Amino acid sequence: MYFQKIRHPSNFRFAEAHTSTALRLADSELPARVRDLGEDVFHVEIADAARWPLDARLLRLNEDEFDGPSGYRLGWGAGASLQLADAGGTILLEGLGGACFGVCGRAWLLQLARDDAMRFYGQGEKLTGLEKTGKRTKFWNLDVWADHPMPVVIDGQPDPQYAAIPYLLIRRGAHWVGILVDHPGSVFMDTGSNWFFSGRDDLQAPPSLWFGADEGVPAFYVIAGHSAAAVTQRLQRLVGKTPLPPLWALGHHQCRWGYRGPRDLQRLDRAFAAHEFPNDGLWLDIDYMEDYKVFTTSPAHFGDRAAELQALNDRGHRVVPILDPGVKVQQGYEVAASGQAAGIYCLNPEGAPYVGFVWPGRTWFPDFSLPEARVWWAGYARQFREWGFGGAWIDMNDPSTGAAEVDDMRFQRGAWPHWTYHNLYATGMAQATHEGFLAARPDERPFLLSRSAATGSSRWTAVWTGDNWSNWQHLRATIPCTLNLALSGIPFNGPDVPGFGGHASRELAIAWYKAGMLFPFLRNHAVAGSAQQEPWVFGDEALAIIRHHVRLRYKLLPYLYQLWIAQERDGTAVMRPLFHDFDNEDGQELDHIDDQFLVGPALMQAPLLHPGQQRRTVTLPGRGRWMDVSDGRFIRAGRSIQVTSNVASTPVFLREGQLIPMQPGARISQTNDLADIELHLILGAGCSDEAALDYAADDGLSYGYRRDERSLWRFTAWREGDVLHLEAAVLEAGWKPLRLCVVGYDGARSVVVTTATGTQTLTLVSEPWVFSGAPLAAGRSQAVSI
Ligand code: GLC
Repeated sequence: MYFQKIRHPSNFRFAEAHTSTALRLADSELPARVRDLGEDVFHVEIADAARWPLDARLLRLNEDEFDGPSGYRLGWGAGASLQLADAGGTILLEGLGGACFGVCGRAWLLQLARDDAMRFYGQGEKLTGLEKTGKRTKFWNLDVWADHPMPVVIDGQPDPQYAAIPYLLIRRGAHWVGILVDHPGSVFMDTGSNWFFSGRDDLQAPPSLWFGADEGVPAFYVIAGHSAAAVTQRLQRLVGKTPLPPLWALGHHQCRWGYRGPRDLQRLDRAFAAHEFPNDGLWLDIDYMEDYKVFTTSPAHFGDRAAELQALNDRGHRVVPILDPGVKVQQGYEVAASGQAAGIYCLNPEGAPYVGFVWPGRTWFPDFSLPEARVWWAGYARQFREWGFGGAWIDMNDPSTGAAEVDDMRFQRGAWPHWTYHNLYATGMAQATHEGFLAARPDERPFLLSRSAATGSSRWTAVWTGDNWSNWQHLRATIPCTLNLALSGIPFNGPDVPGFGGHASRELAIAWYKAGMLFPFLRNHAVAGSAQQEPWVFGDEALAIIRHHVRLRYKLLPYLYQLWIAQERDGTAVMRPLFHDFDNEDGQELDHIDDQFLVGPALMQAPLLHPGQQRRTVTLPGRGRWMDVSDGRFIRAGRSIQVTSNVASTPVFLREGQLIPMQPGARISQTNDLADIELHLILGAGCSDEAALDYAADDGLSYGYRRDERSLWRFTAWREGDVLHLEAAVLEAGWKPLRLCVVGYDGARSVVVTTATGTQTLTLVSEPWVFSGAPLAAGRSQAVSI
């Protein structure tokens, strides 16, 4: 497959007229349906069974989720042009006159008029920057190192990547529109790229954008709204929200291609404990297996497996092994034989099991499009969980087939060509693994991490952004990549820190940890043969800096956890671009800011991303104030400022008017208690805002919270002079009572705490602490129980 070339409208024949149920194209009528699903979510489908006989959309999205009325209108207008209008009838998006929906054999495309004021985002996992104007791209899950030249992998923008999410988020003035192509195979998109050899003909063509697919039923969703946040939430509800992760998944994870079994992990455990460095996950790469055979463990590296895994678990570490889908073709290997007996492997066009070449050599591939194959896989995953593994790392599920052409892999017992399930393959694997884990421990939230993904996969798995490289360009690229993944419905993701390939320098490792400390997922991982990159190998000073920022992540876990509660409740993104929460109308142009980001509503990071950098410009969005954690100053927003930082610190700003729950003290281990918090009141002197927070706590592990085994408190706070006021109400009490200290800033001296049982005034005793950089002047109250 070519990755640089996509289909061009010049080779398409376009529909020229429409009726209420069809598009007229040459002398044929194509049944065309626009459905208003409610809440400004629409579905467009052109279902001509003669041209597209196979409907391969196996993963259904949550179309029934929307019950409110729509304000926007979507429909066909003159010249069979698709039109989106707002409630007042103003047209916001429309098809290119006379050339909107077109076909070229079985390929189809939809072309819309484009203007310079439009901004484009989304597109899932790509390294092509935050804003997507002028991009020509494909959506096809890829084994990146196998399919792109290494110089491009290391220094370029290899595209496509591992996860294909054919989604475009368009900003047009005060309106935002998401377009999600409803397709399991190869999708293409062009947002105004320059066509080599295009010449004057193309330059004089009216500006347009187009998307389409090489074959398969033409179908897509359109979501309209007044903010990026509103559209993103509805996209997430449509594709499926991320279930609340277990708390341990939000901690620090240590991985390396080369850790082989319990002995290596015990060494790591001792090192983490000795360094008082909190860490939750210890990961095993392919060497833990016997001969790289999936669902085996190597007798050379494991003794009493259950006891070894239990011992690591008792020390507070979950062991997460890699699982690759390829099953070694080998006589006497039980997994291979049982899959063959069950007939669940993908077939080649000749009807035999398809053979690819992955780590174990010749391999067969489970056909996860078959429910019975998922049940078969889930049985082994269940056993793995029962042996004591804590989570699963599902890899090579692009699917990677080595040098064998992936197109010869067919699904549905050979009846369906490869494209029908290609981009969903990893999602089927995630679904099956998830089911297996649940079967083993029905009351524990499973945690999976996948390399490939598709629209909807966030229901079952988090994603890491694959094999990156230890260089500054890759560090910088992770921010827009993660932001666009969040805007595209994959909020739980993160890169290998401080890069997978190559050798991380001390300076890069520190910079990457500081920039990545609050990414949704944080895992140190490196390729075999690279220099060691555990946090302590870069010297004492580096260790102290890295450790400080990882401890900060642990300190902030109660806050981060609330963001995941919000994600599960209403689909709110966790790590997000500035324009998700703020408008340009607030005085700043936020459209292109790709080196700053928000983690929830209260915290903004503006990391240093260049070697030797000590100074940078920071845009402070909004109309209020931000507290600079390096010195505790409250700074007026709606402008850009210069900040200096140094190797030990990273620029972080807390939004005034927010309440931030943190764990008390410095977090020197991975032990957490969500019912024991410091509540940081970000209310500077002179602040007249009232701040509010609903805070929930549970065991961080089970589904108890769905059975009311959680507690929920509502806090309201404000400031009068140097006195803080905090009102606390218990809304639910199914978990523990709350032990709470109040932390105030900017000269606050006391806090008046009002609960159902009365009012008490607590003195804030000066207790400076280091967020990042110099000690931050703060006052801390004694603990109260609520
Ligand atoms: C793939 C994965 C990488 C892993 C390696 C060996 O390249 O992306 O994370 O370390 O395989 O299993």
